[in-house]
Amino acid sequence: MNVGAVGTPAWQVVAAHAERLRAVHLRQLLADDPQRAQRFRRTLGPLLWDFSRQRIDQAALDALVALGEAAQLLHHFAPLFCGEPVNVSENRPALHTALRQQDDAPVYVEGEDVIPAIRREQAKMAELVARLHAGQWRGYSGFPMTDVVNLGVGGSDLGPQMAVQALEEFRHPDCNLRLHFVSNLDGRELLALLKDRLNPATTLFVVASKTFTTIDTLTNANTAREWLLRHVDGRFDEAAILRQHFIGISANPAAMSGWGIAPEHQLRFWEWVGGRYSLWSAIGFSVALWLGMDGFNELLAGAAAVDGHVRTAAVAENLPVLMALLEVWNHNFLGLHARAVLPYDGRLALLPRYLEQLEMESLGKSVTLDGQPLPVHSGPVVWGDTGPNAQHAFYQLLHQGTEAVMCEFIATVRGRSDVPVEEKTRALHHQRLNLANCLAQIEALAKGADSKDPHRRYPGNRPGNLLLFDALTPHTLGMLIALYEHKVYAQAMLLGINPFDQWGVELGKRIARELLNVLESADKVPQDAVTAALVEHIRQREAD
Ligand code: F6P
Repeated sequence: MNVGAVGTPAWQVVAAHAERLRAVHLRQLLADDPQRAQRFRRTLGPLLWDFSRQRIDQAALDALVALGEAAQLLHHFAPLFCGEPVNVSENRPALHTALRQQDDAPVYVEGEDVIPAIRREQAKMAELVARLHAGQWRGYSGFPMTDVVNLGVGGSDLGPQMAVQALEEFRHPDCNLRLHFVSNLDGRELLALLKDRLNPATTLFVVASKTFTTIDTLTNANTAREWLLRHVDGRFDEAAILRQHFIGISANPAAMSGWGIAPEHQLRFWEWVGGRYSLWSAIGFSVALWLGMDGFNELLAGAAAVDGHVRTAAVAENLPVLMALLEVWNHNFLGLHARAVLPYDGRLALLPRYLEQLEMESLGKSVTLDGQPLPVHSGPVVWGDTGPNAQHAFYQLLHQGTEAVMCEFIATVRGRSDVPVEEKTRALHHQRLNLANCLAQIEALAKGADSKDPHRRYPGNRPGNLLLFDALTPHTLGMLIALYEHKVYAQAMLLGINPFDQWGVELGKRIARELLNVLESADKVPQDAVTAALVEHIRQREAD
């Protein structure tokens, strides 16, 4: 099976359509085809995806579908789901789909079925969740836990934090815990929590790190441990404190044990789960704590529904695959190099950050699977914020800047479900105002507006996607995340790159380790002249 469609005849056909449409304004495309809204939309259960504001016509869409077929995009999903080592530079599978598989059909990694191990860890997770919900998990002095702090970064933080915030209204009635997320290594978040808001006797720390070597997370974990021990002041045995106040989640059990996590409080996942794809594993522990295991399973089931869709729907009907084709169209054929993610739903405020990692760590590559230079663009810059806030911040650039940006609007028809009766009318008004803004912006960006005054002119022609869910639930959130995961994979297969490694983050980590040594010993000087000058400046100021 060939990987990558760059430069193939089907790619050239798409290029010819881009040439044909380059000077055609979206306004024109919309006026020429009154059926656009019906033609360029797809549905999947409670999701409507409208892509009628993309700069395509039917012939261009057909050419993109033909490109997807020629690239055998659907066939590429089989090795992903079957556990083949699709992560070629690390010679590993990327089996996040097995974590949310709804039945027990075997999935083999090096001849071993991984499903029984997944079920074992899920059962262990359920048991820990149940103990915490029942108030049976006691701290060193015998009190039940009141606070749980997830210490993790990147994939070990962004997914759980985003999901807990998005699904706030689905808190399990037995979950009386406050959840906190700490990622930043500068200590600010953690020290502020430790100083005022946490009681050492009733705080449980969850050290979440696939590798269990990430200095950010281990430094925060060490700070938390010191804080606990200081408060206990020798009254209790250190091993007992660690057992009662720390859970570890990792693919590296030896490192968890080495740090002091009791084996019975270790939750495991595996090398074949990518960090940014790990929400579905034990890394989702905080989500399971918040929603309960049934709610967490609903999240998994939503993702599994998309897994089923992506494997079986024809290219022309396949949402993630079409999303990938359209992004490659915008990026490589129309020259739009950035995509703004704009949720019109405050519950999804952290989704842009989550997607920044998922998409840019996955697609930020410049060589093909076999190490050759990639001759085209890989992934665009992805960033965003909640739409209504961003309207008052960076939308000016979206409307009138010289850099055209792809815009992705995400909204729900219904707002929160837990609004008290007396506030329902106001809540509905807020929700309609929110939707009115969402619909207005996508229309304005597409059509633009003329004016005699050049300062008041809107060029328009900015392509937009709208993902409109009936409601935000654990199930639809699972769908949304899986849609993006599979979009990224389809994009990578189209371009012939590896979406599962991230070698680009290693160099900076190595230099930082060396520089920490330099900063901590006055006689060491960095090799780089500019860094040396900056270190000198820092030393002088520290001494002042
Ligand atoms: O540095 C990047 C990265 O490796 C991400 O891919 C990962 O999600 C994050 O760091 C955290 O890694 P870990 O879960 O191993 O601590």
